Amino acid sequence: MGRSKKKHHGLITITILLLLSTTLQFCSTSRTTTKPEPVAARVVSYTKDIQPIMAAKCAPCHFPETGKKKKLNTYLAVRDNYKEILVRVQLPADHEDFMPFKGKKEPLTAAEIQLLKDWGEGKMQD
Ligand code: HEC
Repeated sequence: MGRSKKKHHGLITITILLLLSTTLQFCSTSRTTTKPEPVAARVVSYTKDIQPIMAAKCAPCHFPETGKKKKLNTYLAVRDNYKEILVRVQLPADHEDFMPFKGKKEPLTAAEIQLLKDWGEGKMQD
């Protein structure tokens, strides 16, 4: 009697261990299949990425003290004029609204335009 009871307990223990290990396996499997987040795109920031482009391509005209045109030298100014900036830098270079104005500076590169887009699609990080 006692012996068979013991065996029975052993079976239960094994069953529990098996269940546990399958559950744990399942957990770790689902963790590895759902976790791989898309390689997070680097966050584009105004200070690190956008301001240098503006300074290189839009100064002095849009930067005080020398610039007399609309100020585009601060985070808020660029954020508030974002749509028009993005449109103008992507116009054909001979378009009258194209910026930088009349080829006074090099046009934005494709990479710079992409940075502007990424910045706008993100949270316009300061
Ligand atoms: C050589 C000087 C010069 C440079 C460099 C220049 N701009 Fe301009 N910008 C102007 C002039 C002049 C105007 C006004 C004429 C017009 O609206 O097209 C203007 C107007 C603008 C406007 C419209 C502002 C408004 O509401 O009146 C935007 C936006 C703009 N520029 C963006 C840019 C950006 C972005 C760059 C850099 C990629 C840039 N500009 C570089 C001279 C310049």
